[in-house]
Amino acid sequence: MTWRLRLGVNIDHVATIRNARGGAHPDPARAAAAAAAAGADGITIHLREDRRHIRDGDLDAIRTASSLPINLEMAATDEMTDIACRYRPHAACLVPEKREERTTEGGLDVAGLHNQISPIVRRLREAGARVSLFIEPDPVQIAVAEVMGAPVVELHTGKYAELWIEGGADAAAPELARLQAAAEDARKRGIEPHAGHGLTFENVGPVAAIPELAELNIGHFLIGEAIFIGFEAAIREIRRCMDEAREKASG
Ligand code: PXP
Repeated sequence: MTWRLRLGVNIDHVATIRNARGGAHPDPARAAAAAAAAGADGITIHLREDRRHIRDGDLDAIRTASSLPINLEMAATDEMTDIACRYRPHAACLVPEKREERTTEGGLDVAGLHNQISPIVRRLREAGARVSLFIEPDPVQIAVAEVMGAPVVELHTGKYAELWIEGGADAAAPELARLQAAAEDARKRGIEPHAGHGLTFENVGPVAAIPELAELNIGHFLIGEAIFIGFEAAIREIRRCMDEAREKASG
């Protein structure tokens, strides 16, 4: 069975550019409205502990700017859980977070951190959020996600994207196979698989063609490409790449 593939647009780096000057431009809330106009299915934001991009004051403005569901990425900490329980996003995606990293490196080790993460999953679910765990495409992590009662896992495509940069589709093929197997495994366990990190016009096709996936979350590339072709055009083009790959694979 093939599920409709949603596109979540991560607008964190609109805030990164705004913060570089300390003013109000470019406004991430305006980016949320533009993403909606360009056909995004959701808005993804990561409120980091150091507030390096999205800040607390952006949360309500982003929600007001569009009617799209919000996926709040967050570290598995009490502070972020308190914020998420007040904010009540459509989805809350638990991600690993280290201050010194430039971006989210590697998936959350839900197997190793089971005792820390389980109560947070419970609290978020009680607050009405659809909990997602950002994990490596690894059978052990998926099995633990099931035990924790997570309805969604987001499979980390960072390694796939890195291998693609090194050697194109051939180099990335083994990691693509891991993503495929993980997406199938998740579906068998009743978990909805999503994927994201490092996806571009060039490398998104093979991932989009995995029929079990329900959503891709894409940010940095789209914000970068916006410099050259515009934000809405970049979103429309990634959507086209995704749809083309799905159609080819199913047909
Ligand atoms: N999904 C998750 C959980 C992430 O942490 C990120 C990066 O913030 C993305 C998707 C999007 O990755 P990128 O910005 O490389 O497209």
